[in-house]
Amino acid sequence: MTDVLTVEGLTKTFDMHALGDKQVVGLDDVSFTVRGGEFLAVVGESGSGKSSLLKCLYRTYEPTAGSTVYHPADVDLATCDDRTVMAIRNSTLGYASQFLDEIPRVPAVDVVARPLLERGVSAADARERARELLDALGLPEELWEAYPATFSGGERQRVNLAQALAPEPELLLLDEPTSALDPETRTAAIELLSESTDAETTVVGVFHDRDVVERVADRVAVLDGGELQRVVPVEAFAEEGEVVA
Ligand SMILES: Nc1ncnc2c1ncn2[C@@H]1O[C@H](COP(=O)(O)OP(=O)(O)OP(=O)(O)O)[C@@H](O)[C@H]1O
Ligand SMILES: [Mg+2]
Repeated sequence: MTDVLTVEGLTKTFDMHALGDKQVVGLDDVSFTVRGGEFLAVVGESGSGKSSLLKCLYRTYEPTAGSTVYHPADVDLATCDDRTVMAIRNSTLGYASQFLDEIPRVPAVDVVARPLLERGVSAADARERARELLDALGLPEELWEAYPATFSGGERQRVNLAQALAPEPELLLLDEPTSALDPETRTAAIELLSESTDAETTVVGVFHDRDVVERVADRVAVLDGGELQRVVPVEAFAEEGEVVA
């Protein structure tokens, strides 16, 4: 399988003006490749740079140095202009954030359907697909037409994940998409993730839970203090047996 992403020397430092211009290192010279169709899990302790990595890949953060070549579009996501980033986000790149953004006063089913409408799917088909995803994630039917602003953390997380999965992006970035879910709902989410991420979908997903990593991942990238320690096949990661923070 061909590579989808080539990350080289990716670095993100934060200038902390409130701390007398001290610099905080989020990511330090990180290099790896992501192969087409694989599920790459990113693990590491809290503060090791996992969310920073995903935000740099999605260009929520502008990397301080390095490159992230997204091969299907032949574009360096680290340095290309904002319009190019937006065009790729709107066509083939998906992202589910760790902490949910403010959700507008829109019913859950329409939040999930929106990216499909933006891609030209009919309203009826988009809502049908949204309902299927919410159902698969076990969101109670009486909430489908309700506003996520009033939802619990786990309910919102399911809307967030469904919205990211709905347009079937070629490259999907997931930041702890199951962290707020109870064990039963988490199992449903993992099943949906495994089903939805076949050879056509490449995933880079951050997880804290070793069980989840071992169920979904093909390879595992271990971050520590902003540095990439290693990228190993999931079988090797399972054998290491160390506790993931
Ligand atoms: N916007 C920001 N401004 C300043 N520092 C930041 C910012 N974002 C991240 N950092 C810092 O970068 C480091 C890595 O943070 P990051 O959120 O990437 O960690 P993480 O591995 O996702 O942690 P967690 O498991 O708790 O979500 C931390 O020291 C954090 O304080
Ligand atoms: Mg994080």
